[in-house]
Amino acid sequence: MKRKTILVTGSSGLIGSEAVEYFDRQGYCVVGMDNNMRRAFFGPQGDTLWNLERLRSVTRNFIPHDLDIRDGAKVREMFRERHFELIVHCAAQPSHDKAREIPILDFEVNALGTVNLLEATRQHCPEAVFVFMSTNKVYGDAPNEIPLAELETRYDYARPEDFAGVDETCRIDRTMHSLFGASKAAADIVAQEYGRYFKMNVGVFRGGCLTGPSHSGVELHGFLSYLVKVALSGGTYSVFGYKGKQVRDNIHSYDVVRAIEEFAENPRPGEVYKLGGGRENSTSVIEAIGRLEQMTGHKMNRRYLEEARKGDHICYISNLCKFKSHYPKWKITRSLDAILEEIVPLQRAQVAQTTAI
Ligand SMILES: NC(=O)c1ccc[n+]([C@@H]2O[C@H](COP(=O)([O-])OP(=O)(O)OC[C@H]3O[C@@H](n4cnc5c(N)ncnc54)[C@H](O)[C@@H]3O)[C@@H](O)[C@H]2O)c1
Repeated sequence: MKRKTILVTGSSGLIGSEAVEYFDRQGYCVVGMDNNMRRAFFGPQGDTLWNLERLRSVTRNFIPHDLDIRDGAKVREMFRERHFELIVHCAAQPSHDKAREIPILDFEVNALGTVNLLEATRQHCPEAVFVFMSTNKVYGDAPNEIPLAELETRYDYARPEDFAGVDETCRIDRTMHSLFGASKAAADIVAQEYGRYFKMNVGVFRGGCLTGPSHSGVELHGFLSYLVKVALSGGTYSVFGYKGKQVRDNIHSYDVVRAIEEFAENPRPGEVYKLGGGRENSTSVIEAIGRLEQMTGHKMNRRYLEEARKGDHICYISNLCKFKSHYPKWKITRSLDAILEEIVPLQRAQVAQTTAI
């Protein structure tokens, strides 16, 4: 019997690589698309080639391609040559702050790259499932309008009705997004349109903080991964504003891919979902630092900068109710502690390797 084929864009990145491994294990043929642009965005620390090499050694039916999603002609050529059952679109310029230095490149990768893939899907395999990894930054700073209470180590929602977090009804316009949030919002709307207008099996996942062992974490992107890296290398972590009490919810890349799998098995055209760690996996920056200090036994160097990042969320927890009600088999399987317990030894080994060179 012919193997089903899946396309994963951004296949050397955090979520893409988890998807490659997961679907390869399930017996699919997995085609990857990644041009290591993370290195161009963030320098050597963002280089993802180590992850590509790792994938080559652990997979059985993985075919990586060094291809730029901005190149519409090459993208269409690939879709002409292969028939895909599922497209998992993870390639992106992923940084909120980086985008202001490269507005055109950011828009080309995030918006044009996405429409290139959607259109190629429509022309060559319109019945395929297409999952687009969007972001909570499409809401801009609108979530900051939710009334907050300041607690000892974090901000939290003041009203009981907000306890479960921000849901899909939060508005996405008339807010400050950062250029990254704006380019992702453009892609998010176009992806929904292919679902609603063309009735294609498109799903949009608006991620909270996505994390896991395969992140090439850098200061400008990859909250927990970068925090652990700094904690172990003895560097200094910069906290930007809000007294370090800003809250993020963290989800392991495995749980993200499981959500993608659930959607792929029973797609709902044009749907939008929150996808994060939810309240249980939420932490403020200073709480995360405290937990890491406990785990490593070292005090972490940090500096505090009064000015918060523009358009940053003060307290952001993804409300997972909609996804869970549509896909009741899905749940969070990795707690925040379990995530840290997995990342810390891996990063420790990487830091030891770097210092030995
Ligand atoms: N990591 C997070 O906290 C987070 C949060 C919300 C949403 N997201 C979204 O989830 C998706 C995956 O994020 P991630 O953390 O895995 O990012 P990542 O940076 O780890 O992976 C993205 C990959 O895409 C590749 N890439 C970039 N531009 C490309 C191009 N033009 N052509 C081909 N490949 C290209 C990069 O080299 C990288 O390997 C992105 O769309 C991101 O915006 C991530």
